Amino acid sequence: MSPMNEHFRLFNAFLKNPLNIGAIAPSSPELARKMCEGIKPDENNIVLEIGVGTGAITKELKKLLPNNDSYLGIEINEKFFKSLRRDFYEMNFVCGSATEAYEIHRRERLGKVRYIISGLPFASLPKVMSHDILREIEKLMTNGCLFRTFQYAHGYRLPPAVNFRSQMETKFGRMTRSNLVWKNVPPAYTLTWKL
Ligand SMILES: C[S@@+](CC[C@H](N)C(=O)[O-])C[C@H]1O[C@@H](n2cnc3c(N)ncnc32)[C@H](O)[C@@H]1O
Repeated sequence: MSPMNEHFRLFNAFLKNPLNIGAIAPSSPELARKMCEGIKPDENNIVLEIGVGTGAITKELKKLLPNNDSYLGIEINEKFFKSLRRDFYEMNFVCGSATEAYEIHRRERLGKVRYIISGLPFASLPKVMSHDILREIEKLMTNGCLFRTFQYAHGYRLPPAVNFRSQMETKFGRMTRSNLVWKNVPPAYTLTWKL
């Protein structure tokens, strides 16, 4: 998908469902690279991407994959899912909800999840959905597993964002926050938890 088309699609989807999309533009290449720092997947230590969107982070992840069985992407929006299958035809995607991530991963019969890369807008998702996704993350996070997401700077101190971080810290301990990635609309931090 061309970058113009990618922006148009995400913005259009945002207008229809702002809380579930949570972003007016796909992540920039700079933020996508930050999201992928230090990731070395293989077929026994796969990367699970949740909330794939138009594939802005997927593009960077793809460069790190030794083979196609080192990746699984879950996206709830059917239109995005169809275009992901077209644009990254060799990679594994499931059209479904991250609230079912554990079972989806089990059904796909891929290796152990070592990296969870999330583009999900936790700060705007309905509370119940957010809660159910955290439960799935907890089931998938085994020793050595890394979870990474991003939060926008303008919403960083707002209650939903603070709440998400505090729930994560209760479950997985202290996070590591990146420097602010200015080259993103809007600027964002990446947040990493490692077990
Ligand atoms: C902010 S966009 C991020 C897209 C992309 N990762 C990026 O960084 O540009 C969030 C994506 O999460 C998806 N999403 C929202 N709720 C979801 C859920 N429960 N399960 C899977 N995907 C979900 C939306 O459809 C949307 O594509």
